[in-house]
Amino acid sequence: MKVEAKGIKYSVSSKSKSKTYTYTKSQKLFQRALKVIPCGIPGHFSPAPFVPPTMYPFYAERSKGSHFWDIDGNEFIDYMCAYGPIVLGYNHPQVEKAAQEQNSKGNCMTAPGKIMVELAEYLTDTIAMADWAFFAKNGGDVTNLAVMIARAATGRKKIVMIKGGYHGVAPWMQGYGHYGVIEEDVANIIDIEWNNIKQFEEAIAANPGAIAGFIATPYHHPTFADSEFPADGYWQRIRELCTQHGIVLIIDDVRCGFRLDIRGSAEYFGFKPDLACYCKAIANGHPISALVGVDALKTVAAKVFYTGSYWYQAVPMAASLATLKELRRLNAPVLMNKIGKKLFEGVKKICASYGYDFKVTGAYSMPYVRITNDPSNMLHQEWCAECTARGAYFTSHHNWFVCAAVSDKDIQKTWSIADDVCKLLKKKYGDKF
Ligand SMILES: Cc1ncc(COP(=O)(O)O)c(C=O)c1O
Repeated sequence: MKVEAKGIKYSVSSKSKSKTYTYTKSQKLFQRALKVIPCGIPGHFSPAPFVPPTMYPFYAERSKGSHFWDIDGNEFIDYMCAYGPIVLGYNHPQVEKAAQEQNSKGNCMTAPGKIMVELAEYLTDTIAMADWAFFAKNGGDVTNLAVMIARAATGRKKIVMIKGGYHGVAPWMQGYGHYGVIEEDVANIIDIEWNNIKQFEEAIAANPGAIAGFIATPYHHPTFADSEFPADGYWQRIRELCTQHGIVLIIDDVRCGFRLDIRGSAEYFGFKPDLACYCKAIANGHPISALVGVDALKTVAAKVFYTGSYWYQAVPMAASLATLKELRRLNAPVLMNKIGKKLFEGVKKICASYGYDFKVTGAYSMPYVRITNDPSNMLHQEWCAECTARGAYFTSHHNWFVCAAVSDKDIQKTWSIADDVCKLLKKKYGDKF
């Protein structure tokens, strides 16, 4: 079959071209890790959701541009981008140069560098709603700070959040039922469904004068489920209700940030939050996060005591400034969405030619993808695993990420791998799916 997408022509031969990788060194190292690290690889890099785990690499050795290499020497086009932070491509020359130059002057010092002010100026100039910026390390640091500021500003306790939303790992974010979380941690959390204005109105009516903040991602991107954009007028109505009832509106832009709109995802959806949280793409892999806010919350933000040993490191700030400048120069969100559209619409056509429905939801720069033919998700899991073991790294439980370094050659190779895998699965399952 032939696939054509702007500027790229691709035709598929009847022969399978790709060979599957083996992961002997990864598996051996994992066995060593199990003896000294709880569950070998804890957290979101854990192999637990990789199905089947024997088809995935566990340890990376190096990375460049849109690719990384594992410790067995296998090369992958990386469609997870370290779960979001890599936005310009690994080892981006300008970003690394800025980081090295700052490092040669100083990094972790007894006072912040001048770079902290420069970065705050540039970030507030970039994000439309931002009047000030506060820097930390992880996304969860700033989603937690946002909630503390909302409580301090309002003198109220309750926080409304979306079922299935993810804001980090503090107990209140995880929810009751997770190991280590006690009922009191979530006593002031009210969970409502995404896109459900009525439930927000009901929560306000049931808790008069008690809701400090509403926190949500710009669009809903849960794991193991399709992504969902806001319904028409959703954010505008949420904004109205928050203003009317004195509730602080917090946008968690940790994942979507700089992948939808350079001015912030709230701009993309046409509303103005009070606080917005950034991390991941803000520094192309260097450890830094930011909370930005409106002027009205600046004094209270100054009163909340919140800090960490490494939060003033100058190197990640220099890397972040260089990243933001390059993101703006490229208008990277538009570029990544263009790349993602070309890539995934091509894969969709290839899958369709085998009778597989490759469903893409969310933004093309960070789509959630699912082959819908098998509702149990087993076929999709197998498709992702087979692609990964041929060099296109896809997970089946989480949204993927596209970085600005993905080339036409990467797209061609991904299409070729997708075609090989569809062919293999068709041969294996015939018309069962
Ligand atoms: C939307 C969102 N918010 C917050 C976080 C937490 O960020 P971190 O893991 O850096 O603490 C994440 C991480 O994936 C996220 O996707």
